[in-house]
Amino acid sequence: MAYEKRTFDIPELEGISKKSIDEHIGLYEGYVKNFNAISALLPEYAKDSEKHAHALSELIRRKSFEFDGMRLHELYFEQFESGAKTLDENSNLGKVFKDEYHGFFNEYFKAIGSMRGPGWAMLYWDPVGKQFQAGFVGEQHQGHFVALPVILALDVWEHAFLLDHGAQGKGKYIEAFFKNLNWNTVEKRFDAVSA
Ligand SMILES: [Fe+2]
Repeated sequence: MAYEKRTFDIPELEGISKKSIDEHIGLYEGYVKNFNAISALLPEYAKDSEKHAHALSELIRRKSFEFDGMRLHELYFEQFESGAKTLDENSNLGKVFKDEYHGFFNEYFKAIGSMRGPGWAMLYWDPVGKQFQAGFVGEQHQGHFVALPVILALDVWEHAFLLDHGAQGKGKYIEAFFKNLNWNTVEKRFDAVSA
């Protein structure tokens, strides 16, 4: 069954223009479309896997790129819905953050987002080890922490900031991201996986 593209109710943001968001959502829709297109082609090629070996392997390789691009952008855009909300220090997330990051989380996450190359700054929660894992995902699909639920996803591809802040504007964009972030959405994600 094909995946449906989602819509997002994003208010006016500070430092991230509507035009940038609209174009970015267009890119997101491309991931949904391409994932569906690959999924539809695979059975055809698999019927004669020897003849189509190279095409088949390329499609299979690209599948997680498209899927992760689709899912990561959904996580990203929903973080702006309902407007900016600060982190509640008395929420479960706020309390664990205080113990683990002692107030330097935003700086740490900004450092991850500032790493060179297209990708994502990511925060996951490990329900087994009862700890956060933060890291950099290259492109859409390289370097994920296997099976860990995503708590926060920050797109740091150039397309996320080029229009508003120029090619060297990643730092300003990351500041704008935090300014517009609805921490309540992030708190709810943490509640759902840490109970
Ligand atoms: Fe993106």
